[in-house]
This record gives sequence, structure tokens and C-alpha cells, in this order.
Amino acid sequence: MPTTYLLAIDQGTTSSRAIVFDRQGVIRAVAQQEFHQYFPQDGWVEHDAIEIWQSTLAVCRDAIAKAGIDAGQLAAAGITNQRETTVVWDRMTGEPVHHAIVWQDRRTAQVCSQLKAAGHENTVVEATGLLIDPYFSATKIAWILDHVEGARRRAEAGELAFGTVDSWLLWNLTGGRSHLTDATNASRTALFNIHRQCWDDQLLELFDVPRALLPDVRDSAADFGEVIPELLGAAVRVAGIAGDQHAALVGQACFTPGMAKSTYGTGCFMMLNTGDRAVRSENRLLTTMAYRLEGKPCYAMEGSIFVAGAAMQWLRDGLRLITHASESSAHAEAVGVDNAVYLVPAFTGLGAPHWDPHARGAIMGLTRDTGIAEIVTAGLQSVCYQTKDLVRAIQNDGARLESLRVDGGMVVNDWLMQFLADILNVPVDRPQVTETTALGVAYLAGLQVGVYGGLDDITALWARERRFTPAMKPALRESLYAGWLDAVERVCNH
Ligand code: G3P
Repeated sequence: MPTTYLLAIDQGTTSSRAIVFDRQGVIRAVAQQEFHQYFPQDGWVEHDAIEIWQSTLAVCRDAIAKAGIDAGQLAAAGITNQRETTVVWDRMTGEPVHHAIVWQDRRTAQVCSQLKAAGHENTVVEATGLLIDPYFSATKIAWILDHVEGARRRAEAGELAFGTVDSWLLWNLTGGRSHLTDATNASRTALFNIHRQCWDDQLLELFDVPRALLPDVRDSAADFGEVIPELLGAAVRVAGIAGDQHAALVGQACFTPGMAKSTYGTGCFMMLNTGDRAVRSENRLLTTMAYRLEGKPCYAMEGSIFVAGAAMQWLRDGLRLITHASESSAHAEAVGVDNAVYLVPAFTGLGAPHWDPHARGAIMGLTRDTGIAEIVTAGLQSVCYQTKDLVRAIQNDGARLESLRVDGGMVVNDWLMQFLADILNVPVDRPQVTETTALGVAYLAGLQVGVYGGLDDITALWARERRFTPAMKPALRESLYAGWLDAVERVCNH
């Protein structure tokens, strides 16, 4: 029997990647390209949508070539993406009208504060499961329409299209034929009613977004159209789309209520499957789609941290304290867990559970003997302390966390994983394939085209590589975490 292949496009915050998997979920080829980050002002983050598209196309071609196959051998392709990032383009020319405004961007903090002060937060929470925060797409879309000359008029006339990065890539892959998204990506715009599973007119009015801009919303495994043959050499079916964190939940086979994963990429995002119940958090976590299959929504609770891997990137590229992220564990081994230095990486404000767009970063606890090693270790530890903030919020909402499945670039670091288990006091499970985001969307595409018969097939493919078991004394855990809470308290604007 000929081998079946699936192509996963994983368009992230700092790089575009494409991975060819076989039906066993084994990686056959990977290609990756980094692209420019634009920081035009304090708290602003932009990408060039054209560069996103061109780098994505290049890595797709590269991965297919590296796998030694031709595109005709692909059963399907799936797209997973950095979420919330907002692109508005001209439907005739395909030209973006502005740089993409990235999920981390805080330029609409003022507008959000005004909407909150006017008492609108409950309407947004009720319908979308989100909070009012610049993180989500709605205020970013309105900003583009209000700051690009003529854009609002053209949007109302149906001449422009909005999309999160999945829609933008799909539009380009299909030569402008498909203007679609999936329910997980739609659920991050603050315009999508997660209970009724449709765009919400009340929210469109509140955020001042014309309906004519919006894509149609499909299941996460669905027929999204075909890639025009001249791009990859064959008309590959696009059969899966999911936001990266939702795809990771699928890749981690967290299909049963109570199962949770945490992904360590640019940021860190923890998701807990809550099944067919959209649970409202009392502790400022988000309610979001886990995925939607055969028209049936599955929900999740999510804790979103804006800076995880990005803190290491800053230590490397900004401060130049290390030349490669892998050096961090040697520093941490030398310093030990009881580091008295705390780094709060609130570079673009704080996400869950603080939701403070005005907070900014800080390093605290410096003494005359503080050196590079202590600061780098504090960077690693900040990732774990922030995860602890999320776990506490999840537990305060009544969930019991038996274990946590982890994935993403940072989880190769054993020191970090052990400290994570220690500080959370929860076993941490690292799977054999840590490219879980890409794997998840390959699974979704494979489900749609019949490579997999159902979620049980995917569950059977998940395998643990290593479990990290908590071993820290409770008193040390508590005093370290108390130091973190004190540090965070100092950067928040109350
Ligand atoms: O919500 C933003 C998230 O989707 C970005 O993920 O992997 O680029 O940190 P990542």
C-alpha cells in the first residue's frame, strides 16, 4: 500500500513552518523560515502579511521537496496559525491595506479601557467567552478601518476582506476562491458567539466592524478548497484549519473533559477540555472552542501568557546574555532552583489571569553578586511561575488537574520541565512528538479525508516520552512562588 502523507502548515508568531507527516504521525520533513517583526511604537507589534504568505509558500515547497514526494501524494493539507493576528486585504487585488496587527499588539488598550468603563465587558464575556482586551482581533480590525484612508467606506461596500492568518493563507493558497475560517479561529476575534456558533450582530455593532468583511466559519475538519496547482504542483485539498493552541490540544489527544495541555512557544497557552459545556471562569480565564467537528462544538478553558519563549529570545537577542536558548539550562543548573532574582516579562502587558495591558516588565531582587546566570535562570523560572498562575486559576474554578501534557520548542529543556512539575506540584508529561501543533492540524485534515476513522485513532497514536514528577519540598515551593506573586504585584497598574 502506498504511504499516505499529510502536510501541516504551521504559521507562528516568529516563523512559518511546514511539516510533512505520514499517517502514523511520524515527521518526514520539516522546513522553517523566520520573518521580520516590526515594533513601530511601544507596545505595537506588526508583521508584513505578504512576507507571511511568501515564507509559508516557500516552506511548503521546501518540506515537500525534502520529504522526497510530490504534492500529488499528499492526502490533504491543514493550516494552523498564530491566532488573533489581524489582516485586512483588498478582495480584487489581494493586497493587504496595512501590516498585519499581531496578537501581542497593545495599540487599542485605550479603546478597550473605554469599552470596559462603559460597562460592555459582560456582553462580550457572555457571547464570546473572552474579555475586553487588545489581544483579540475586533479592536484591531476597527483600528485599521479608522486609520487607513478610505478603508471603512471600502469595507462597508464589500471591497475588503478580514481574516486571521489562516484565512489569509487559505485565500492565497486557493487563488482567492476561499474566504473561510474555522470555529476556533473565529472564537478569538471577539465577534463570534461561541454558543450560537455564528458572528454576533450585537458585537459587530459594539466594535464597529462591518459584516461584509468577515469570512464564513466552518468546522475545524472541513472542505476549505483546493490549492491552485501552480503553487505546489498539484491541487492539494485543504481539509483542516485550527488556531495553533487548539491544534495542539488535538495533537496532544486531549479529547476527554479534564485533560489539559500547555504549549510553550512565543507565549504559553494552557487549555483544559471541558467537553460540550462552555464553562465560565470566575478567575479571569477564557472560555474558548477546543475544536468543532461534524457541527458539534467542544469547549475549553484557556489561560494565555503572552511571553514564554519570547523571554529567552529577548535574553539572547536583546540583552545578548546567551547566544543560544540551549545555554540556559547550564546557567540554571549552576544557580539552582532557589534563585532570588525574578524576571516579570510583561513586555506587552500581562495576560491571564491579570489582564493588564499597561503593565511592563521588570527584573527584581538584584544584588551585587547577581550575574548573567541568575537573570537567565529567572527568565526560565518566569515561564513556570506564570504557568502556576494559570493552574491556580483553573483549580480555583473547580477543575482537578491530574497531569499536564506539554509541547512546544521550550519543552526539550529538562531542567525547565522538572522545575515546572515542582512548582505546579503536578506531573508533567512530555510526548514523543513535541511538534504537537502541526501534528494536530495534520490529524484534523486526515480526519476529514478519511485517513483516520475518528478521534480514537488519534488517541492511539499519542505516546509519552517522559514524565517529570514533582519532588520539591512544599515550603520551598511556597516561598519561591510567594516571591513571584510579590514581583508581579509590583508591575501591575491597579
Ligand atoms: O494567541 C496567540 C497564539 O496563538 C500564538 O502562539 O505559538 O506563536 O506563541 P505562538
